[in-house]
Amino acid sequence: MDVFTLATNRRSNREFAKREISADKIQELKDHFASCPRLVPDINVEMLILGEDAAEKLNACVGYHRFLIKAFHYIVLLSDVDEHYIENAGYIGEELVLKLTEMGIESCWETIADEPLLKKRLNLAGDKAVAAVIACGYEEAGLFARLGIKSPAEIFLKKKAGAPVPKKTIPQMFYDDEWGKAETISALDPDEDLYKACAAVCHAPSFLNLQPCRLIHDGDKIVLVDVLDEMTNATDAKLNAGIIMMHFEGVVSRQSSGFKGWKLEALDKDYKLPEGAYIVGFYQL
Ligand SMILES: Cc1cc2nc3c(=O)[nH]c(=O)nc-3n(C[C@H](O)[C@H](O)[C@H](O)COP(=O)(O)O)c2cc1C
Repeated sequence: MDVFTLATNRRSNREFAKREISADKIQELKDHFASCPRLVPDINVEMLILGEDAAEKLNACVGYHRFLIKAFHYIVLLSDVDEHYIENAGYIGEELVLKLTEMGIESCWETIADEPLLKKRLNLAGDKAVAAVIACGYEEAGLFARLGIKSPAEIFLKKKAGAPVPKKTIPQMFYDDEWGKAETISALDPDEDLYKACAAVCHAPSFLNLQPCRLIHDGDKIVLVDVLDEMTNATDAKLNAGIIMMHFEGVVSRQSSGFKGWKLEALDKDYKLPEGAYIVGFYQL
């Protein structure tokens, strides 16, 4: 997968055609799920791909203000509950989203508003948690719907052809050495892996497109910092973080060897973080 190109071209779709994904393509997605990299490989995760009757079951359980985006299919990730299982689900879910993008299939992450009800509606017994839900299928031709956010209470769909969602830039998302210090990554050659990985981070989908994460380039490390806000709950914050880690790692580790992966731990260093900000982990370059 060319993660950089897929990550920078992907967008959420919210108007899906009544068209089934072929069995071949479903198998390709399953194969990708079985072999794709994971953030925490030891955590057991299962993937369900729901079909045509799923929207009824998911209705009022997922979506902003429980408003479900109606799609032909939904991917549901069930995970053992262990340390960092939600970040891991965000990482795997975004692997699947980019695989779908590569296959010409549209998608949209869905926030989980009522997990117990969702488990009941889907008849899911057992201890695994529903860690991620992603709507997917084919785009309804000419009906690209963009999310309009007037206020936290007023989220609506604008049917507008082709308009992409505005995203933060590298200078808005990255710092050098400590919180608030202007970054130098954007001065790199745009063909360099590190530049491309950081650009892919800026294109990551996030809850309400709030893009609350910031990253600090500290010598041979990229430190991922999450900033708590009033709208994003802990689960969505962790999914956001997992998605960012996938975009970053997907570019650097697949384009050159010698990159070493994310470590989900804090660092004993004062990055002068503001209140409400915490280190999710760091990537050793
Ligand atoms: C954790 C998470 C939860 C989301 N939940 C929803 C949702 O419930 N409904 C929806 O329409 N979009 C949802 N989205 C999609 C975001 O609104 C979308 O990624 C963001 O507006 C940026 O647009 P883009 O994906 O086109 O780049 C979610 C995204 C993430 C990462």
